[in-house]
Amino acid sequence: MAEEEEIEVDEDLDVTTIAGIGAVTKQKLNEAGIYTILDLATAGPAEIADVTDWDVTKSVEVNNKARKRLVELGRLGADFVSATDLLIRRKNITRISTGSKNLDDLLGGGIETWALTEFYGEFGSGKTQICHTLCCMVQQPISEGGLDGGVVYIDTEGTFRPERISEIATARGYDAASVLSRIMVARAYNSAHQELIVKDLGRMIEKHKVKLVIVDSAVAHYRAEFLGRGTLAERQQRLNRFMHAILRTAEVYNVAIVLTNQVQAAPDSFFGDPTRATGGHVVAHTSTYRLYLRKAGKNRIARMIDSPYHAERDIVFMLDERGIDDPAEESSKRK
Ligand code: GTP
Ligand code: MG
Repeated sequence: MAEEEEIEVDEDLDVTTIAGIGAVTKQKLNEAGIYTILDLATAGPAEIADVTDWDVTKSVEVNNKARKRLVELGRLGADFVSATDLLIRRKNITRISTGSKNLDDLLGGGIETWALTEFYGEFGSGKTQICHTLCCMVQQPISEGGLDGGVVYIDTEGTFRPERISEIATARGYDAASVLSRIMVARAYNSAHQELIVKDLGRMIEKHKVKLVIVDSAVAHYRAEFLGRGTLAERQQRLNRFMHAILRTAEVYNVAIVLTNQVQAAPDSFFGDPTRATGGHVVAHTSTYRLYLRKAGKNRIARMIDSPYHAERDIVFMLDERGIDDPAEESSKRK
C-alpha cells in the first residue's frame, strides 16, 4: 500500500529486541518490509532466510523467538494451551454480520475473526457484492452486527467501486463519507504485487484498526500468470505461501479474512454440480469456511461446503441497493 511515510515502531515490538538481530540485519529486514516482531512472526522462516542470508536453522530460531515474545506480550496464544484456555481464547473470536440474516444464520452468526472465509461461485453470483456490503457492516457498532473496525480491500480484478459502497451505506442509513474513509484499498496488479501488499498488511491493520481484510479475488492472478501443466507446481507453491501468510495475519491480529474465488469446470465430475473452486487443495485446505454461491434467477443461493460444524443446507439471499439482502417477503417480516 503506497503510503509515503516514516514507519513508527512500538519499542516493545522492534525487531532488535530479539537476540541475534543487530542494526545491519534490522536494515535488511526493514528493506523487505519487516519492521516488527509481528512481521517476523508472520513472515515465516523461508522468507527470513531469504532476506537475511541466514541459514534456515537460524531463521527458524529467530521466527520462534518472535512467536515466544508475542506470547509474552499477550499478543499470541502459547503453542500448547489447555482446552480450557483455548475455549477462553476462542471467546475473543467475534463476528461480522453480512447484511443478510439468512447468510448470517448459515455462517453461525456472521463472518468470524481469526478465520479465513472463502466465497466461490460463477461470475455474477454476488461475490464482489458481498465484499462491498461487508465493508459497510464491519464498521457498525457491535450492537448492530459490526466490530467498529476498518477494512483493507485488496482488489485484484479492478472491480472495487466506491460509488457502490456509497449507495449501500446510504440505503442502510449509514454516513457514506465516513464509511468510505475507513476502507483502505490496494489494487494488486499481479501475483507478486499481491504478495507484496500482504507484507504490508500488519501495519495497515494496526494503524487503521482494521477488523476485516478482503481479497477479491485471491486466485485470479495466479490462474492467469501460470498457464499450462508445467507451471502448476510453482503456482501452487506461490499460492500456498500467499494463503498461509494471510491466515497467519488473521491469527496474529484477530481479524476476519474474506477471499473470493472463481469456479472452473470439473470435467471429471459426472454427477452433481460440474463446477469447483479454483486453486485446488491449497485454497481448500487453508480456508476455514468455504461457501458456494449459485445464481437462481433474481435470487442467489449459498451453501456451506465441507464444514464439520454447519449443516449442509441452502439459503437464499438477493442483491439490491442494500448490497446483499434477504428476499423481500422475509426482510419486510423483520421490519
Ligand atoms: P465475478 O467477479 O465476475 O466472478 O462475479 P461476482 O460473483 O463478483 O459478481 P458480483 O458480486 O459483481 O455480482 C454481480 C451481480 O450483482 C449483477 O449481476 C447484479 O445482479 C448485481 N449488482 C451489481 N451491482 C449492482 C448494483 O449496483 N445494484 C444492484 N441492485 N445490483 C447490482
Ligand atoms: Mg467479482
